[in-house]
Amino acid sequence: MSNNAITPTVTVIGCGYVGLTTAAILANCGVTVYAVEINQSRLSSIKQGKSFFYEEGIDRLIATGLASKRLIPTGDYAAGVPESGIVFSCVGTPDNDDGSSNLSYVYDAARRAISLMDKDAVFVQKSTVPVGTGKQLQTVFRQAGKPNSYVSNPEFLREGTAIGDTLWFDRVVVGSDDPAAGQQVAGLYRLVEKHRDTIAKLAGLTPPAVPPAARYITTGQESAELIKVSSNAFLALKISFANSIAMLADQTGADTTEVMDAVGADRRIGRAFLNAGRGYGGGCFPKDVSSLIRSAEDHGVKMEVMRAVADVNQSMPHYVINKATNVFGRSFEGSKVAVLGVAFKAGTSDVRRSPGITIANTLAAQGAIVSAHDPAALEEADELHDTILRCDDIRSAVDGAEAIFITTDWPEFVQHGIDQLAAMSGAKLIVDAMNCLDKSAQASDVTYIGVGR
Ligand code: UGA
Repeated sequence: MSNNAITPTVTVIGCGYVGLTTAAILANCGVTVYAVEINQSRLSSIKQGKSFFYEEGIDRLIATGLASKRLIPTGDYAAGVPESGIVFSCVGTPDNDDGSSNLSYVYDAARRAISLMDKDAVFVQKSTVPVGTGKQLQTVFRQAGKPNSYVSNPEFLREGTAIGDTLWFDRVVVGSDDPAAGQQVAGLYRLVEKHRDTIAKLAGLTPPAVPPAARYITTGQESAELIKVSSNAFLALKISFANSIAMLADQTGADTTEVMDAVGADRRIGRAFLNAGRGYGGGCFPKDVSSLIRSAEDHGVKMEVMRAVADVNQSMPHYVINKATNVFGRSFEGSKVAVLGVAFKAGTSDVRRSPGITIANTLAAQGAIVSAHDPAALEEADELHDTILRCDDIRSAVDGAEAIFITTDWPEFVQHGIDQLAAMSGAKLIVDAMNCLDKSAQASDVTYIGVGR
């Protein structure tokens, strides 16, 4: 095994947002990384130097990783696991119908990996799993006669800023019963810190003016698991709180952005994730909130607060449409409506649980003639209703629209601004479901509404 204390060979299992970002960055730190992906079309895309999802800078890092032969994409666990000192599991944890986490990929990856792992190699869990999963996997490992060290190393990167978040991390959490194993994993992040400026240049990213002071946090395994889900749950809670206040602002004439700017100026609260709008989506918050509720119930704990968070969130796309309908003065049935943004947020092609899609489909179901545009996500938007016209550019999407819904805050939508969107379309209503347009710059007489403003 080519495992020395400084730079072990690494295997990353699962090349989704987390796995591929981790693999591409480590490979550019001089680590030999086997990136295991069992989906053949995704694997062949990576082998050609291209990610199968849109993420700024990642293709360049894949290309340099491949060129240096440090990044080795493979469909075969046996290619790299036996010689790896550290094996990261980054497989998906989708939700089951009852809201609990579907851990079948996690277990499958762990079983396959452990059967091939050297006895001194460390298994690292990066997938978001309910608290207690690590202990159960360790039992599986022991039953297989492989009591390898296990480290919970949750991931905090965001889609759309995945490379930057990984290079300039606020914190690395390593939770393990084996401190030496935890230190080995932390060592990889120190390598990332060392190489990050060079990697940023390769990826075409500008380093932050003031890099965050990276904190290395060592905890027990269960704490690390719970840190991850609690972090996402708390951010989701902030969003649903902001949306609840926004609905009250709508009834009273307050402007939620003014409210949250001032509320967030309190350092104990912070301004981040208090932007009201059509609610959160994506592959993380919705499922992590429901998984936390279920996992708490499994332990006899009622997470009423998180139920309320999920309920408020589910209501938001419909709240936006209802508010717009009231202002429009009638149902959108028979009216041409443009929906700008089907990705669950800007900077990504990911459409999982996208509120923009819910809004577009609901409008279409109400009989509106809907056209949709997104700069990166249209191709992946299989869930868009068949009747919805998919447009390659903003202009054709808004052409002739009576109302325009902004459902993702892509910079190109924001740059167009209220007046230009109105002029391009002749729309009489602009519904800013992200509160991202500058209403103080509005000169035209188009009706503009946001959420809570
Ligand atoms: C989230 C977390 O922010 C990451 O730290 C975490 O690593 C990741 O989940 C994960 O578990 O893998 P992500 O889902 O990529 O990251 O996206 P966010 O930037 O957190 O946005 C989530 C959703 O919340 C988006 O739909 C966004 O539009 C919405 N949002 C965000 C709001 O509605 N209001 C806000 O103020 C902020």
